[in-house]
Amino acid sequence: MRENVSIFESDIMLGVNIDHIATLRNARGEGFPSPLYAAQCAYEAGAHSIVCHLREDRRHIKDEDLFNIKRNILCPLNMEMALRDDIIKISFDVKPSKVTIVPERRDEITTEGGLDVEKSYPILKDLVKEYKKNNIEVFLFIEAEKNNIDKSVSLEVDGVEIHTGKYANLIGVEKEKEFLKIKEIASYAHNLGLKVAAGHGLNYQNVIKIASIKEIFELNIGFSIISHSIFVGFEKAIKEMLYLMRIAKNIKNN
Ligand code: PXP
Repeated sequence: MRENVSIFESDIMLGVNIDHIATLRNARGEGFPSPLYAAQCAYEAGAHSIVCHLREDRRHIKDEDLFNIKRNILCPLNMEMALRDDIIKISFDVKPSKVTIVPERRDEITTEGGLDVEKSYPILKDLVKEYKKNNIEVFLFIEAEKNNIDKSVSLEVDGVEIHTGKYANLIGVEKEKEFLKIKEIASYAHNLGLKVAAGHGLNYQNVIKIASIKEIFELNIGFSIISHSIFVGFEKAIKEMLYLMRIAKNIKNN
């Protein structure tokens, strides 16, 4: 069980988002591929945590998937969720290791931007305390802006996940500018005591650069891994990603 993954160990963790295993299952209304089996395989391949987003429209992960996965995996479950009363209630029933609060728009294809921390502040103020009482870590999915970090510190959340989707889509000078912004904000947040994760749009081409930011302790990656797994298999797709993250570790240390 998971013996050979030690060679892929790095100082940065990989959370594998398995939403699109459920997308594929739902496309035919069959019971397969199973998100739970995917979560177990991801763990065996070296994933440090499993990430699932329970969306309002349940377009991929369903309530029973979350409960099943929470009960039957050997690594932490990170539940991505919007601030909706019904979803909040489910999160307390599931009791994942961590919740990542994301914005959600019904018509978006995927999470398009970071959370408006200022607008969500009044709800989060009490909610963060409740999660803490229940031993559930709280992360906010944010754009790389100082203002978001300051608000996150005052909310006493455990950490932030920096949205890398914009970085992933830019090219040339603008991409480099966005990278420097992410790097600066990661350092700013880390110095203020927050844990710093990153995710969205990361793939086999752009992961090394983001993983080489020394304050980032975790990357959450889904679509590129699931897509690549069609050609090389799920285990290899995860191990290849871990391998690239390990290369980034050497860059950090040089
Ligand atoms: N992190 C967060 C907060 C997300 O909402 C998503 C998408 O569900 C991801 C990471 C993974 O993004 P991708 O599928 O582009 O790797």
